[in-house]
Amino acid sequence: MCGIVGYIGEKNAQNFLISGLKRLEYRGYDSAGIVTLDEKGKATLLRAKGKIANLEEKLAKAKRDDHIGIGHTRWATHGEPSETNAHPHKAGPIYLVHNGIIENYKELKAELSDFEFQSETDTEVLAALINSFYQDGKYPLANAVVQALKLVKGTYGIAVASEFAPEEIVVARSGSPLVIGVGHDETLVASDASALLGHTKRAIYLNDGEVAVIGKNSIEIKTLNAEPVSAKVEEIETNLAAIQKGGYDHFLLKEIMEQPESLTETLRGRVNAKEGTVHLGGPRLSVEELRKIRHLLIVGCGTAYHAGLLASYYIEQFTPEVTVEVVIASEYRYRSAYIPEDSVALIVSQSGETADTLACLREIKKQGVRTVGIVNAIGSTIAREVDGGTYVHVGPEISVASTKAFTSQVIAMVMFGLTIAQAKGVKGTMLRLYVEEIARLPEAIRSVLETVPKTVKRIAEKHAKYEHAIYLGRDTAYPAAMEGALKLKEVSYVDANAYAFGELKHGPLALIDDRFFEVVLLPKGVLYEKAVSNIEEVLARGGHMVVVTNVTDFDLPVEDVILIDAKVEKFAPLLMNLVSQLLAYYMTVCRGLNVDQPRNLAKSVTVE
Ligand code: G6P
Repeated sequence: MCGIVGYIGEKNAQNFLISGLKRLEYRGYDSAGIVTLDEKGKATLLRAKGKIANLEEKLAKAKRDDHIGIGHTRWATHGEPSETNAHPHKAGPIYLVHNGIIENYKELKAELSDFEFQSETDTEVLAALINSFYQDGKYPLANAVVQALKLVKGTYGIAVASEFAPEEIVVARSGSPLVIGVGHDETLVASDASALLGHTKRAIYLNDGEVAVIGKNSIEIKTLNAEPVSAKVEEIETNLAAIQKGGYDHFLLKEIMEQPESLTETLRGRVNAKEGTVHLGGPRLSVEELRKIRHLLIVGCGTAYHAGLLASYYIEQFTPEVTVEVVIASEYRYRSAYIPEDSVALIVSQSGETADTLACLREIKKQGVRTVGIVNAIGSTIAREVDGGTYVHVGPEISVASTKAFTSQVIAMVMFGLTIAQAKGVKGTMLRLYVEEIARLPEAIRSVLETVPKTVKRIAEKHAKYEHAIYLGRDTAYPAAMEGALKLKEVSYVDANAYAFGELKHGPLALIDDRFFEVVLLPKGVLYEKAVSNIEEVLARGGHMVVVTNVTDFDLPVEDVILIDAKVEKFAPLLMNLVSQLLAYYMTVCRGLNVDQPRNLAKSVTVE
């Protein structure tokens, strides 16, 4: 949720730290800070509440040509966003930046009664603890860090510097990602490889329970139990263009508009439209193993959960003897749920770092259930811990609201369902229709994105003053409606909720009045007529309705209709979701809000 950077080398450390923090700002953005050390260990500590721009203002008056430093962008967990609570935290000569949560910080704090705490954070407690073992440089910094971490309960990714050792940084991780960038005469640290781009393409991803001492030209990694670790240097696959706005005003719009290409990447080498088959190698399941599957458990949070729900509607259409259960990770991890035999769990996560999803993965693995990741971030923790997986390959998603990942997650899961169906010998003709539509989807998405934005913008302007919205759909349009409502609420702060049309009479119909507008996703299909009756019921009660449909002769007297004219039927809800994404975007712009970094949220939720 927060971002960490570190630098040791020959260049100006402040410059790298600030540019790195800006790249990570989407992860947490309520305060930020950096500390650099000169050759003698004299520290320059700068911290500011709010955006990195505020920190830059302070930096203008405190420029240093130091070559070592660490920095942090924060998403508050313990203590309000303020300069005092911002990292780096100082304890004696020690400076610490930390992602994650120290769960036993209160007990540890009670033991450190001599220390005068300045902040309300758990991080400052860890800094003081390290300092208590360090004893003003009497022991090596890494030893003090290890001693302290052995007492800690919780999660962390940390970087530590000391005024007495201005030639090294100590980093460690447990449950919160950390990457070491290997450069020429420089070593970099980040919680996300995107901060390293433009500096180095070579990276070492630290594993849980590892501690590294890094110097300008050295990286020494050990476990907390002092066993040496031989590090694997990997190539960072992302490029700089992928993390820039590329001419768009906002990442959100860029990422919505990228979907024809990002979905093409998801499908590359996996779909054979001519033969009507799909092939996924990553899950590493033999035909025999696929054939045995009776139960699919799909786990995710937020948009990833909605993607799972939508995919489940499809998967059960063509794999009749497989039950599909979709669960919210934060709930599932504490339930005493029984996982039947012959199950496979799909672990869905854009970032691959979501704490609750990761906890479920570990829990499910303990029960001996086979796990398959549906992940975007390459090399992320979930991607590394699953038994097999399918990367969605949509490239970096920077805007906090997830868009392109959703579309590709749904299709990746549908493709996984298709591979099960193929293995079970489900009739080729039945599957062929799905495969052909999947192959056509990128073009269908392109055509929607070329035709609807103007209309959606006009409708957004008209509805920008509403504070309440209801999204409605049936069947596959229902999970798509849930995702539409989530998009609207997270970026525009409009109170938006989704209901299955059939549930309206059981409560939500009482809400319909002039304070609300309704967004209806209305695909062609067996439930079309029933949905039309539901629409009439809402209209009769004075609803203000925006209908998104692919039915050309839809002619009820609703206020606004957006026609999706694309040659895709089964996956029409995915196309309608593009409209929801655009509606959320334009509503947010009209309301003058921060599109890419909505208040209180963070891109990657690495704490519970
Ligand atoms: C956060 C993000 C959402 C995302 C959810 C799950 O809430 O803001 O966009 O859907 O986490 O994230 P994941 O990385 O696991 O897909």
